[in-house]
Amino acid sequence: MTVTVIGSYVVDLMSRTPYMPKPGETVLGGPFQSGHGGKGSNQATAAARQGIKVNMVTKIGSDVFGEQALKHFSKENINADFIVKSVEEATGAALIAVDSNGENMIIVAIGASGKLTKEEVRRAEEKIKLSTVILLQLETSLEANEEAIRLGKKHAVPIILNPAPYYEFPKHWLKDVTFLTPNETEAEGLTGIPIQDEASARKAGESLYQQGVKNVVITLGSKGCLLYNGQQKGVLIPGFSVEVVDTTGAGDAFNGGLAACLDQQKSLVDSLTYANAVGALSVTRVGTAASMPTRQEVDHFLNRK
Ligand code: RIB
Repeated sequence: MTVTVIGSYVVDLMSRTPYMPKPGETVLGGPFQSGHGGKGSNQATAAARQGIKVNMVTKIGSDVFGEQALKHFSKENINADFIVKSVEEATGAALIAVDSNGENMIIVAIGASGKLTKEEVRRAEEKIKLSTVILLQLETSLEANEEAIRLGKKHAVPIILNPAPYYEFPKHWLKDVTFLTPNETEAEGLTGIPIQDEASARKAGESLYQQGVKNVVITLGSKGCLLYNGQQKGVLIPGFSVEVVDTTGAGDAFNGGLAACLDQQKSLVDSLTYANAVGALSVTRVGTAASMPTRQEVDHFLNRK
């Protein structure tokens, strides 16, 4: 049983800042830290750390960051057979500022990951066919995601689409994916409904469900997530309150955790509770891929709660 992640790898360049600068302002920050990032790679890392097999499909540059990416996937036991090396495009980079509350602002220069082609996705068809879940985000090309969705449908493999970072995508994807996992901002982008509380999240969940999404899961930070599907019409799966150090990558931790649980055939509500715990543990640590907890850590955390 395997999860196949199709998405981005970028290098994360992060600095703490006492507060987010205003336009034109320079702030003295630090310390600086670099690490493995990109929503696709982070989600693959989170899933792999839950002890399941993961295939990664992405594109990197023929440069030092690309080399580091391959070392990362090897260290995390992630299958890198379908990682393409571009000769034209550099490995992408994300510029991340994290303030004293642990909140972040990110600019992603997506680089090679944004140039993944449908043919390059199709090369992984045999692995996709044997997967229990396909995990997608919006940090790669539209054609790569379109092809992944086509292959998922062709081989009846459930698809999780984490619509991050949000921008408009073909509307038919909503009917084709099995799980849609926006955060509050992305849910507002998708529905026009500002998410201020549980009631507005429920309204957005209903709207997405009516547009054809089978399972809408809106992540709500420390509050947990809201599930809207044919049986559960807006049920809150409570989150965990933890000491927040750095929220960057929390959504990726959640999605990787969810994919891992679905791979292990857990019930949806149990999977979402587990995914909430993976997300909660990740915000107690600095960084993105580096902050993903292992299965033992998540089990220990859940047993103590
Ligand atoms: O979700 C967090 C990730 O978003 C970071 O690792 C950064 O690379 C951006 O892609």
